[in-house]
Amino acid sequence: MSARLFLSSGDLMADRRYGFARDLQLKGHLVAAADLLLQAIELAPKFTSAWFTLGEIRRQLGEREAAITAFRAAQGADPADRHGAGLRLMRLGAEQVSSMPQAYVQTLFDQYAPRFEAALVGDLGYRGPALLFKAVLSVRSAAKKPAFFKRAVDLGCGTGLAAAAFARNVDRFIGVDLAPRMIEKARSTGLYAELEVDDMLQGLRSRPDASAELILAADAFVYVADLAPVLAEARRVLTAGGLLAFTTETHGGEGVILGAGMRYAHSASCVRVSVEAADLKLSRLEDLSARNEDSVPAPGLVAVASKT
Ligand SMILES: C[S@@+](CC[C@H](N)C(=O)[O-])C[C@H]1O[C@@H](n2cnc3c(N)ncnc32)[C@H](O)[C@@H]1O
Repeated sequence: MSARLFLSSGDLMADRRYGFARDLQLKGHLVAAADLLLQAIELAPKFTSAWFTLGEIRRQLGEREAAITAFRAAQGADPADRHGAGLRLMRLGAEQVSSMPQAYVQTLFDQYAPRFEAALVGDLGYRGPALLFKAVLSVRSAAKKPAFFKRAVDLGCGTGLAAAAFARNVDRFIGVDLAPRMIEKARSTGLYAELEVDDMLQGLRSRPDASAELILAADAFVYVADLAPVLAEARRVLTAGGLLAFTTETHGGEGVILGAGMRYAHSASCVRVSVEAADLKLSRLEDLSARNEDSVPAPGLVAVASKT
């Protein structure tokens, strides 16, 4: 899904060598590509994109230690880590699974915004909002309450697909997303009363106590390693009886892992424990996949938690 990010070195020769190296990499000539990248790095030692690509090639070649060195150099050259070198280090087991660099998420989705819906809904069969809608209707129907909500907060709202699914059931939607270009798309739908470019945790922190009947996170917690802080804040913002509905990707083991697609997967027990720790009641937890990966449903969970 990610478009290749290129951060110019500022040196024309180095940038050209990088371009040739990328061509070679794509054709599978990895050793030659690595040589060219080293030449580019010699010309521009702080060339983040070259270091990052070198890290990927070293990893593809099975040279783990050299890959780690290159990814660390990429991180050092761009401390905001727009390429997500830190995530590659987590995947290589060189660093503990921890939070995602905000600049990485922002850059990824700003790049992705123009083709997001076609790629996600069209190519990956994305169905997160519809699954959340169905789950929320079921929980409300079991509680014999109408599925109508005055105020809803959409965490990681993206282009607004979740608000579209719930449009008839919510009076007033607030959207929060890290990526300004995703927020621009969401604004153009006219579905949101308020939109904020912010981290979801900060966005919730700025909301008053008991100020939303519904909080949604559709395919957004896959970018959050530790769910505990956001769940605790969601509880504070929900009214009594309010619902938090979210999707996650999942795996058969324990805890949270970072998958090959650079998205976190939370085990079912990890979701259960996090929901309970936030003093929310897990009203529904189903094994349902929100999207495909390599044309196969990616293992996923759909959860609805209630504030009692
Ligand atoms: C896969 S998209 C899903 C968008 C939307 N919820 C939907 O269902 O189409 C994930 C969105 O979450 C946003 N995001 C990821 N981490 C975030 C965070 N910590 N705070 C706010 N937004 C975040 C991304 O910018 C992106 O727009």
